Amino acid sequence: MKSKIKQLTETINALQANSLEELEVLRIKYLSKKGEVSLLFNDFRSVPNEEKREVGQLLNELKNLAQDKINGLKETLLAAKASGEKHDLTRTAEPIKLGTRHPLTLVKQEIADIFARIGFTIAEGPEIEDDWHVFGALNFPPEHPARDMQDTFFIEKNPDILLRTHTSSVQTRIMNSQKPPIRMIFPGRVYRNEAISYRAHCFFHQVEGLYIDKDVSFADLKQALLYFAKEMFGESTEIRLRPSYFPFTEPSAEMDISCNLCGGEGCPFCKYTGWVEILGCGMVDPNVLENCGIDPDIYSGYAFGMGVERITNLKFQVKDLRLFSENDMRFLEEFKSAY
Ligand code: PHE
Repeated sequence: MKSKIKQLTETINALQANSLEELEVLRIKYLSKKGEVSLLFNDFRSVPNEEKREVGQLLNELKNLAQDKINGLKETLLAAKASGEKHDLTRTAEPIKLGTRHPLTLVKQEIADIFARIGFTIAEGPEIEDDWHVFGALNFPPEHPARDMQDTFFIEKNPDILLRTHTSSVQTRIMNSQKPPIRMIFPGRVYRNEAISYRAHCFFHQVEGLYIDKDVSFADLKQALLYFAKEMFGESTEIRLRPSYFPFTEPSAEMDISCNLCGGEGCPFCKYTGWVEILGCGMVDPNVLENCGIDPDIYSGYAFGMGVERITNLKFQVKDLRLFSENDMRFLEEFKSAY
């Protein structure tokens, strides 16, 4: 009797069924009134009294096992059937929701494409920098008040390690490691310790540019920037350069474009001036070239830098800078067909 129970336990443990019909056959075979398990119960009468307790327990266990097994198989088969029914193979496909590129990525890419057409390649560098690459090499002496122009985030207590405040730090790296001619742009994220509002953020994106060669002049700079402005904002766009100051360029200028909303007529967007500022630029200061191992008697160069958010605002009239980093799908989806 005990060996019979053992055998049947093994058989039941190994049961498989491919369909509910097959399962029903198994149920009848083992669990119906005349099934194998039930028949064992009939034999129970002939078990000697002293073994009845033990064998009775084994029999009950066998019955429970058989029931659990059959129920388990039934559940699996039902679940498979149900999920199969959900797949209607004749149905037309659901439209796939495609992601969109971030507006800043789109605009950064367009800026890069425009400069690529006039020979600029791209270089990137680290966001965590040291003082020398961000300030020192770029003619910001220690304690120079010009450092206050950019509110710097320092990493821990070491004032030498900081988050770059402009991608000019990549210019330093390139000038240090490559020989002119250099004609490159430097896109990337930069950080400044500013209170977050609709018009300022503690991080934003820049594309800076650098051209160093023999006989590079301010006229070359002006021509490259005019080309950029027209490509970016349309053929009728005009530019205007105003004298400015940066420690790393001399002379320095800020560039305005004719307001792309009113065409220079004057509107609330350009505060009725007809012009909007888009970038800083200038001729690389000879000190900077020298700091980076380039002979200023042989080479000269120009540099410029613009904020990608600013350009994007002008192109798409985004009124609140914070929208760029909030990941609001309603905002992001608006740029689906921008390019
Ligand atoms: N680095 C400057 C800034 O972040 C921009 C700039 C770059 C100005 C190159 C002049 C020349 O404000």
